[in-house]
Amino acid sequence: MQVVVRGASIRFGSRSVFEGLSATFPSNQVTALVGPSGSGKSTLLAAIAGFRKLEMGSIELGPQESWVRPSSALVNWIAQDSNILGGRSALDNVMLGPLSEGATLREASQRAARALGRVGLGATKHAPARHLSGGERQRVAVARALSSTRPLILADEPSAALDEVNTVGLADLFAQASGRATIIVATHDPVMIAAASSIVTIRRSPL
Ligand SMILES: Nc1ncnc2c1ncn2[C@@H]1O[C@H](COP(=O)(O)OP(=O)(O)OP(=O)(O)O)[C@@H](O)[C@H]1O
Ligand SMILES: [Mg+2]
Repeated sequence: MQVVVRGASIRFGSRSVFEGLSATFPSNQVTALVGPSGSGKSTLLAAIAGFRKLEMGSIELGPQESWVRPSSALVNWIAQDSNILGGRSALDNVMLGPLSEGATLREASQRAARALGRVGLGATKHAPARHLSGGERQRVAVARALSSTRPLILADEPSAALDEVNTVGLADLFAQASGRATIIVATHDPVMIAAASSIVTIRRSPL
C-alpha cells in the first residue's frame, strides 16, 4: 500500500506545524521519516493513521486505481510511548493485534507467541507488561504490529529505548515485514535510517 501526501498543512492554534508538505511513501518498503524534534513527524503519522485531520491538502492510500482515505483499521501503530496495558501480560498485549482483526483466541495466541519470540521476548511472554523495561515494552508493541496483517505499520521512534543490537534486530524485522506491509518509521536513529529503503525529511516550518 502506497501512501501519498499532497500539500498537507497542520496547525495547532496559531502555530503551523507544517505547510504544503508533499511526500510519497512507497508500497512495501521501509521509509524513514526524519526531521528535527518538533518538525511534525508524530503529527504526520497521526494524520496518515486517520487520527488527525489536515487543514489543507490530502492523504491517499492505496494502489493508484483504488485510493482510500486514511483509516485506523488499516494501521498498526507503534507509539512513541509503546501504548501497552501494564496490568496485562506481554502475550495478552500482542494478542490484541490479531484479535482486533477477527482471529480466534487460539490463532491469536499462536501468532502472538511467535512474534514475541522474534523480538526476543519468548521467555517473558507471561510477565505483566509493567514489569518489563522500556525497551522490552517497545518490543512488545513491535511484536503486536508483526503479528497483525494490516497493510500499514506506523512506528514512532521505535528504537528510542533500544540498545544497538536490538535496534539492528528491529531494522531486520521491519525489512522482513515490508514483504507484506508498508512501514513508515519516524526516527532520529542513524541505524534505523541507514537500514531504510527510502527517506522522507520534514523541515521545521518557520514560526
Ligand atoms: N495536541 C497538540 N496541541 C498543540 N500542539 C501540539 C499538539 N501535538 C503536537 N503539537 C506541536 O506540534 C509540533 C510537532 O509535534 P510532533 O510531536 O509532531 O513533533 P515530532 O517531529 O514528532 O518531534 P519529536 O522528534 O520530538 O518526537 C510541536 O511543536 C508540538 O508542540
Ligand atoms: Mg515525535
